[in-house]
Amino acid sequence: MTMAARKALVQVAKEFGTPAYVYDLDVVRARLADLARVFAPHFSVSYALKANPNPTLLASLAGQVALADASSVAEVHRSTEAGFPADRVTFSGPAKRPRELRDAISACIGGLVLESVREAAEANRIAAELHVRQDVILRINPATSPRHFGVSFSGKASQFGVDEEELSTAIERIQSLNNLKLTGFHIYSGTNSLNAQAVSDNFAIFIRIFRRACQLAELRPAKLIFGSGFGIPYLASEAELDIDAIGRLVIPSIAEMRSEPVFADTMFVLEMGRWIVGPAGWLLTSVVAEKLSRAVDFRMCDAGFNNHLAACGMMGTVIRRNWRIENVSNPDAAMHRYTLVGPLCTSIDVLASDIELPEVRVDDTLAIANSGAYGLTASPTRFISHPEPAEIVLIDGAARDATERGSPAEKPVVRDQHRGCR
Ligand SMILES: Cc1ncc(COP(=O)(O)O)c(C=O)c1O
Repeated sequence: MTMAARKALVQVAKEFGTPAYVYDLDVVRARLADLARVFAPHFSVSYALKANPNPTLLASLAGQVALADASSVAEVHRSTEAGFPADRVTFSGPAKRPRELRDAISACIGGLVLESVREAAEANRIAAELHVRQDVILRINPATSPRHFGVSFSGKASQFGVDEEELSTAIERIQSLNNLKLTGFHIYSGTNSLNAQAVSDNFAIFIRIFRRACQLAELRPAKLIFGSGFGIPYLASEAELDIDAIGRLVIPSIAEMRSEPVFADTMFVLEMGRWIVGPAGWLLTSVVAEKLSRAVDFRMCDAGFNNHLAACGMMGTVIRRNWRIENVSNPDAAMHRYTLVGPLCTSIDVLASDIELPEVRVDDTLAIANSGAYGLTASPTRFISHPEPAEIVLIDGAARDATERGSPAEKPVVRDQHRGCR
């Protein structure tokens, strides 16, 4: 981190207090420019709101990415309120309740991502009641599992998508439903890969399946959605994903597809969250107390797993490893080893163990890197009733309070009336 960036974070901590999430929208913009440099015009980008649904961040993304992928009806509404046109919103997720389907269809979303044939039948019934024909995208669960991904969903039983082996029957069933229009396919089979070859190998699997699916459906698809699985280096020992290498490996196949009549009007979509916003975010936490216990130098911080479940290794990781953390208050001091813990009354509330940092004193501000994705809204903030972290955005270097009050799911929803979108 540059000295200027450190100073900016210290200033945010002073002005807004801690714990606080900070999202640098200029970093987001630079990352999107990098994606465009490598993948445009072959791929468009879809932002998965689950990574970070902060409204100010979303409003900035709305002008910069083509699509938004929502995974709840509240996220559908967040997308449109932030400025995404409804027809640029897709809605995925394995347990969509009838109420949610109805609200999403009423909101005129551009693509309902079907996770099963049963869901298709339910959506069809609701679309018929609303006298509309809903565009749908079928999610497929590949029979093959990708290698070198943090988490992989495919090659095994899954709640997501229809199994590749069932593709033919599923397509037939969905195409027989009068109030649904099959417009494309979607695969998301692995997350957080730092290996360009692995991402490319996985995309080759997607392309094979997409080709077969389009043949079976006799479809010129409007959208083919590639769940990117692009990862970010959370650990000091990890290197950045080489997106230029992915471009070199993948774009020739996409260019070839785009030259074929069947894919001439297809929007090829890279769907992702963490790669875009993760490195743009920091969680700032203050050191509240210190203690030496049996030769372990503890620093007690005002944020723990209540504020950042993933950094504490509790979001899908088997072994907790230290994330990149900086002492932004005291960057040039001599290095020491510390165990950093949060404020919760449980011994599992560990931010980092045996981590080397410049001397950490009470009141210093520590910054946890890569916190722009799966941070605040992926954490159990109510546990033990500590204050909620603020959310601060940096735009052109200036800090602005972007804290959202109240539960994201509590927003009012327009119900039961179709707004005549098609
Ligand atoms: C369907 C779907 N799309 C997108 C994402 C976003 O993944 P990431 O934030 O790792 O890019 C996920 C994550 O699990 C997902 O399940």
